Amino acid sequence: PHRQVIAIDGPSGSGKSSTARAVARALGLSYLDTGAMYRAVAVAFLDAGVDPSDVEQVIAATTGADIDISLDPDDRWVRVNGRDVTDEIREPRVAQHVSAVSTVPECRADLVRRQRILMDRDPRGCVAEGRDVTTVIYPDAPVRILLTASPQARLERRGGELGGRVSGEQLRDQVLRRDADDSTLVDFTHAADGVHLLDTTHLSLDEVVLAVVALAKEIS
Ligand code: C5P
Repeated sequence: PHRQVIAIDGPSGSGKSSTARAVARALGLSYLDTGAMYRAVAVAFLDAGVDPSDVEQVIAATTGADIDISLDPDDRWVRVNGRDVTDEIREPRVAQHVSAVSTVPECRADLVRRQRILMDRDPRGCVAEGRDVTTVIYPDAPVRILLTASPQARLERRGGELGGRVSGEQLRDQVLRRDADDSTLVDFTHAADGVHLLDTTHLSLDEVVLAVVALAKEIS
């Protein structure tokens, strides 16, 4: 059988990670969280004392040091320069700095190149999710989906995931401020030509997963 490639984009709290993970499991494909790679780079920079908001420093660090990022194809771990950062990349200080890192074109180009290699590594195929998978990383993917949800629904979902560990203000910073910053780099609020728009505001995770699997079966 031919390889199956499913590209999913969406804002923070749209449910793209949970959806992509479940779809990958249902169809026996590998899973790639492209946002985890931006988070991993942010951790590497913070470790090295690079100021993420200083563009010159970020460019020097991107092109100077060869940062080693490895991800488990089954999403159990993320490592940076050999160190396990699976939990650390979810910390608020990383959410706070990751958009600054991701606005630097040199950094994006480097990660896009790595993301294409990772998406091609599994002969079964893959489900990849992020902000620019459908438009930049893999515009040729046969199945391309943009997940959206109302700001209220996205705040509630992310708040639920974080289990009340952050204040309302921190939550809005992590979801709404980050989206505003991120949407200056790539447009993940409107579906590009050929990308299926799926509004998940009133759907459960199971319903979203079923819809994506159905679409994948219909198309391939
Ligand atoms: O998806 P997640 O929220 O983990 O992504 C973390 C950050 O990585 C985003 O806020 C964004 O700045 C960046 N990102 C990106 N392009 C992607 C995926 C993530 O710029 N494809």
